[in-house]
Amino acid sequence: MSLRERVAAELERTRRRSEILTDAVDDADLVRQHSPLMSPLVWDLAHIGNQEELWLVRDVGGREPVRQDIDHLYDAFKHARRDRPQLPLLGPAEARAYVSTVRDKVLDVVDRLPSDPARQLLRDGFAFGMIVQHEQQHDETMLATHQLRVGSPVLAADPPPSAVVAVGGEVHVPAGPFDMGTSTEPWALDNERPAHRVDVPAFWIDAAPVMNAQYAAFIDAGGYDQPRFWSAAGWEHRVSAGLEAPLHWTRDGGDWHATTFGRTAPIVPDAPVVHVCFHEAAAYAAWAGRRLPTEAEWEKAARFDPATGRSRRYPWGDDDPTPRHANLGQRHLRPASVGAYPDGASPLGVHQLIGDVWEWVDSGFLPYPGFSAFPYREYSEVFFGGDYKMLRGGSFGTDRAACRGTFRNWDHPIRRQIFSGFRTASSSGPA
Ligand SMILES: [Fe+2]
Repeated sequence: MSLRERVAAELERTRRRSEILTDAVDDADLVRQHSPLMSPLVWDLAHIGNQEELWLVRDVGGREPVRQDIDHLYDAFKHARRDRPQLPLLGPAEARAYVSTVRDKVLDVVDRLPSDPARQLLRDGFAFGMIVQHEQQHDETMLATHQLRVGSPVLAADPPPSAVVAVGGEVHVPAGPFDMGTSTEPWALDNERPAHRVDVPAFWIDAAPVMNAQYAAFIDAGGYDQPRFWSAAGWEHRVSAGLEAPLHWTRDGGDWHATTFGRTAPIVPDAPVVHVCFHEAAAYAAWAGRRLPTEAEWEKAARFDPATGRSRRYPWGDDDPTPRHANLGQRHLRPASVGAYPDGASPLGVHQLIGDVWEWVDSGFLPYPGFSAFPYREYSEVFFGGDYKMLRGGSFGTDRAACRGTFRNWDHPIRRQIFSGFRTASSSGPA
């Protein structure tokens, strides 16, 4: 497949997902704000089109603006999410017409794709890859909005695969340097670059993400009542926000249920816990006598191949993800049981690092040595050093185009409307 064909196919595949997420609800639900944490779905839709217009129609294509008058409405830096419903946004029909007009122009730009190797933005189709990833990231955000929406279910998917192997315990990762980040992945974003050696002391890491049954045991043991398991900031948030269990969990008699896209069912004991904030993850780890991994530890567990000493693109190797490797791309609407993806394990035997749940790691958002902002400071640089913790590996709602062994996500440590879980680590091995 030529680069042109690949770009067009990825744009098309991604737009179909955006349509599923926005066609599933009526106009009233599209313009409604389902949570102050989220934009109305109709904002995400037109914002996707606006970013595509800015970068691909105007910048790469050198064409006349389609709707310059609306740029400020869809600039994420100008208006906080909670304020967006009050803006004079495009309505559902207008937003759909807008994104489709922009897309027609972009496909024309792709057809005449200028091949200018001197222009970094065009190298390997980077600008198009960036816009595909941007739309997929907003699709995941829209999926999180769907999860917060109240009402009868509108999304459907096959259940994820069941466990086929037993996975448990911890994996030893030997001390030594490994290559973190990438200098070769064509569509990697600026914050994943460049590749650099990091020396990591030996550590132990869970072979799988922490499961619902394990997390329920933490709750039952009084984990939410004992400040000693929580950081000062974590405990303050636990109390002020009234946290007692993961988001969307309710207790029915003695049993925990979770509401998933409008359907309430008993928690799946052996599936990774999802919708916990960083503070909850860290408290669980402390209760278990462990800690969260650092970002470098997570990436070494995911990518380091002790046989060759090199870092892989993904835990299973250099091949792009397929349904056999990982639970990605909204193919299923919840995490799969631990042991469902033996073909996705890393060389060291760590499972389900990619897909299922984003994993909180105990590192802030900082640039790698040699970082250079590209294509603009607002992509990553303005967030460095802020009140964030990193999330790695992607979730069931993350598309493969926006998920790599090097991909870095970040959010505030109190956030849990995202598809976030975790695994634990230690420096001293099993107790
Ligand atoms: Fe955006």
